[in-house]
Amino acid sequence: MKFVSVVGARPEFVQAAPVSWALRKEHIEVLVHTGQHYDYAMSQAFFDELGVPAPNYNLEAGSGSHARQTAAMLVGMEEVLLKEAPDAIIIRGDTNSTVAGALAASKLGIPVMHIEAGERSFARHMPEEINRVVADHLSDRCFCVSTKSAAHLAAEGITAGVSVTGDVMLDASLHYREIARTKSDILARLQLEPGRFALVTMHRANNTDDPQRLRAIVAALNTVGERIVFPVHPRTRKALEAIGASFGTHVLAVEPAGYYDMMVLEEHARLIATDSGGVQREAYYFAKPCLTLRDETEWTETVEAGWNVLVGADCQKIVDAWFHFQPPAAHPPVLGDGTAAQKIAAILSE
Ligand code: UD1
Ligand code: UDP
Repeated sequence: MKFVSVVGARPEFVQAAPVSWALRKEHIEVLVHTGQHYDYAMSQAFFDELGVPAPNYNLEAGSGSHARQTAAMLVGMEEVLLKEAPDAIIIRGDTNSTVAGALAASKLGIPVMHIEAGERSFARHMPEEINRVVADHLSDRCFCVSTKSAAHLAAEGITAGVSVTGDVMLDASLHYREIARTKSDILARLQLEPGRFALVTMHRANNTDDPQRLRAIVAALNTVGERIVFPVHPRTRKALEAIGASFGTHVLAVEPAGYYDMMVLEEHARLIATDSGGVQREAYYFAKPCLTLRDETEWTETVEAGWNVLVGADCQKIVDAWFHFQPPAAHPPVLGDGTAAQKIAAILSE
């Protein structure tokens, strides 16, 4: 069979890697990069490190308003789908690339396969929530990380073609962390001692585009005093510059990290604070306490397991949790067992 597989933003390159390897054993995968992310550190670096096959097409959508960016992807995607005539399209997650793939394919009658389906934050102010809902409802096959996400779909009337496979990002984390240990020298480069620093990432529009929230998070990071590594997303760098933010010398605000460096930083951090969906899960995979810089999360399993706490953009809450949040001893496998990609490939082969 022939699949068109869509990637565009940073997490999608990670999600694509294990699925690509599993799928290409038996099938043809035509990889389409929408061009949503384009800086070397946000895109090509992941192809180089993860060994994801080079994209067959780059739609070069670039940045812009949601409408402009999604529209550019739709035009390019339709052309590719008409030319390639695949048996199905594979989309993942909740980005504008995801929803563009779902819309273009479904209008052409091409079956849509959605990896990481059924996640909900129930916060409609998030563009990602809108993308998820639309993508799920246009999908013929929904691959869910957990029974919770399958239940979200059922509550919206989607019960046919739903499978619980676990998280492909866990597959990637388990595989690449081994390689990362030998390839990354980030600890030496940044003069970090294992267990004696915290890792921070932040890029959600809700935080970057709201100066009050952004200032509160910056104030919290400046207050804690502990060594912090903060790989800064380009969106966040612009937002920090716009509010004239500055950090104490304990905060290392660095360029976006490569995936190997990120694995090593996650493995050796004492604590992780993030608003990223992927990094919340990876914190769990490395059994690290996670402070989520949001008011809600899709990844409620990690909160219920006691390893993740929602601290929003509240300076006091962040600082309190930074020093007092203590996960329990139990660490159940709530997001799968690291074989999601194999399961997905097997179902796609049917
Ligand atoms: C997107 C996804 C988000 C995901 C994130 C992963 C949507 C709606 N959002 O958010 O779900 O968590 O990717 O990182 O799809 N920029 C650069 N260089 C790049 C890419 C972006 O400078 O290579 C800057 C541009 O100023 C751009 C801004 O970052 O306007 C935002 O990029 P965009 O892809 O629109 O959204 P993200 O915030 O990255
Ligand atoms: N990531 C990375 N370098 C960074 C920040 C994130 O390699 O500087 C990886 C991270 O380990 C995870 C993925 O990118 O695998 C998550 O992407 P991101 O946080 O951009 O998006 P989200 O998961 O929130 O959609």
